[in-house]
Amino acid sequence: MKRIDFHAHILPELDHGSKSLEISLQQLDWAKRVQVDTIVSTSHFYGWRRDLDDFLEERQKALEIILPEAEQRGLTIIPAAEVTIFRNIADKVDLNALRIGDTSYLLLEMPQETWGNWVYTEIEKIISKAGLQPIIAHLDRYPDRDVESLLEWNLIYQVNADAFKGFWAGRKYVNWVKNNFVQVIGSDVHGGDGQDYLNFEAALKKLGPQYEQSLMKNARRILADKRI
Ligand SMILES: [Fe+2]
Repeated sequence: MKRIDFHAHILPELDHGSKSLEISLQQLDWAKRVQVDTIVSTSHFYGWRRDLDDFLEERQKALEIILPEAEQRGLTIIPAAEVTIFRNIADKVDLNALRIGDTSYLLLEMPQETWGNWVYTEIEKIISKAGLQPIIAHLDRYPDRDVESLLEWNLIYQVNADAFKGFWAGRKYVNWVKNNFVQVIGSDVHGGDGQDYLNFEAALKKLGPQYEQSLMKNARRILADKRI
């Protein structure tokens, strides 16, 4: 079965992911090598210091370069963004412009520093005001206490492949998938050395065919804008 990578920084020079076209092409080659056929392209969007129109224009330019290269390799690229939450984001940014493809889903990253209840107010506004369905990026990155609070929201949650490295961590995150705490997986690929895609492959191997299939089925349904 073909694989969907739900979180990837593959557009050249759009963020600190791929620093050049050469690196982007290496990333595409690695994706293909590990049987990925669809990549959700989630360049960072830091809305408190980045103009939305500039971002969209630069993303479009980068996509125009990358799409033919992806097509040559049999890869589909879905335009999206990794949107970092900040105070009043739902009022300040037209989040609809940053949706995953044509769906109503939005990949949302929590703040890097500890956060207060304002985060949950924003999540509520993103759902009710912007009419979007947040997917929480790399749930594995946040402290346990925050993970518990986030899970209470019954959203969709994405896990990073590198979380599965090591025996104990691997078991923990395999259980997250088994218990349906997380519904989609991404490489979160940044560089071109292939390590992130090797982690992606290793995580799916650790999960086994049954859980890989359910993650990919979820990803496919989300991309078709269906509920999971
Ligand atoms: Fe990321």
